[in-house]
Amino acid sequence: MKIQFTETVLRDANQSLIATRMGYNEFEPILEDLDKAGYYSLECWGGATFDSCLRYLNEDPWERLRKIRKKCPDTKLQMLLRGQNLLGYKHYPDDVVRMFVKKSVENGIDIIRIFDALNDLRNIEVAVDETLKNGAMASGAICFTKSPIHNLEMYVDIAVRMEKMGVSSVCIKDMAGIISPRETYELVRAIKENIKLPVIVHTHSTTGLGLMSLMKAAEAGADVIDTAISCFSGGTSQPPTETLVYALKEQGFEIDLDMDALKKINDFFKPIRNKALKNGLLNPVVMTTDTDALKYQVPGGMLSNLVAQLTAQGKLDKLDEVLLETPRVREDLGYPPLVTPMSQMVGVQAATNVITGERYKTVSKEVKAYLHGEYGKAPGEVNKELEKKVLGDTEPITGRFADTLEPMFEKTKKELGETAKSDEDVLSYIAFPAQAEKFFRDRDKKNENRKNGTFSYTIERVG
Ligand code: CO
Repeated sequence: MKIQFTETVLRDANQSLIATRMGYNEFEPILEDLDKAGYYSLECWGGATFDSCLRYLNEDPWERLRKIRKKCPDTKLQMLLRGQNLLGYKHYPDDVVRMFVKKSVENGIDIIRIFDALNDLRNIEVAVDETLKNGAMASGAICFTKSPIHNLEMYVDIAVRMEKMGVSSVCIKDMAGIISPRETYELVRAIKENIKLPVIVHTHSTTGLGLMSLMKAAEAGADVIDTAISCFSGGTSQPPTETLVYALKEQGFEIDLDMDALKKINDFFKPIRNKALKNGLLNPVVMTTDTDALKYQVPGGMLSNLVAQLTAQGKLDKLDEVLLETPRVREDLGYPPLVTPMSQMVGVQAATNVITGERYKTVSKEVKAYLHGEYGKAPGEVNKELEKKVLGDTEPITGRFADTLEPMFEKTKKELGETAKSDEDVLSYIAFPAQAEKFFRDRDKKNENRKNGTFSYTIERVG
């Protein structure tokens, strides 16, 4: 049996361990080796890379992608996209989503992994359609979560509907690292039995389950698993590539990657990892195992947010109450997966309910928007009483929220005028206006200086 690997060191591992601060110049020298190693794909773009390039690295994200493409002609380049939210947490109109997808493919992307935080497939269908139209592969990703209503049947149903939508593969996406080996095995088997497409498993090592779960994924017939080269693996990142290659080869799996190539790649990234440890960018704690998520059934990131929030208000003694309130709020909201932005929404509301001493005495504007249908359809039934209390006489939107939005690409392009040098610039601006503006300004200044023959440099803060 054959199994393939997606390497995440350039995107998810980079994002999970060092807040996506690895600059293009740092990893450029290893790109040709990554390209030749025999990976199924390199996850290298989307997620937080785009924001980080503009905000912290003074890099044009589109240019980064084109450069990677040039150095990696033979391996598929992959990105992560939040469906109708693109790279953020709000919905964009369809013209923007289509243009973003089209330009991503034009600039070098082969596979777009597309998900919606609520698994509301109406929020991924436009991105999927445009990806396929542009000749790239659309991988439909199912957000894995645990709740009384999330079961095998529900996930299989999502996978079947994705296949009907025309996706090229289906990915089980466990962003919190909470899927167990048994659940992984059963889920992969059930999905494989019901659809004909390749099945991919993505998880994190956060709780320590990751390695076991990917092993079980392989045994259940998964076609691709996501891993990170070992020095950038573990903890909040993915399980280690070499370890799984070694173990699965020994078990008789046919794998295109060879240990020598992986050794060279790992040796290259080690000094980058060591530098990040030294300057504090990488906190060793995030590379260790944290099993709290298994006990509290909330993702690690959400738990630390709750603790920080309660500490700031001098209410840390209320933590146990808040942790009891959290599943109740989640139930009221129809069991949304606990991923951004829903995890924050549920956590903050639970804390508010406890601190004010009255449930839903104050309701955040995010929860209001959620109940109004602005994020999509809840997986389960929302509490009708709460809905009525919050919305009053306003009817919730039952259609697709993006249908209520006016097209904005051409309008924004006109407004930006000379500031935007390309359609890609316009998209950068639409996705991250403040960051893009600053990036454009700095770029203009640099070009001006170059013309005048003067030098400009920035002093990088170290430590
Ligand atoms: Co991930």
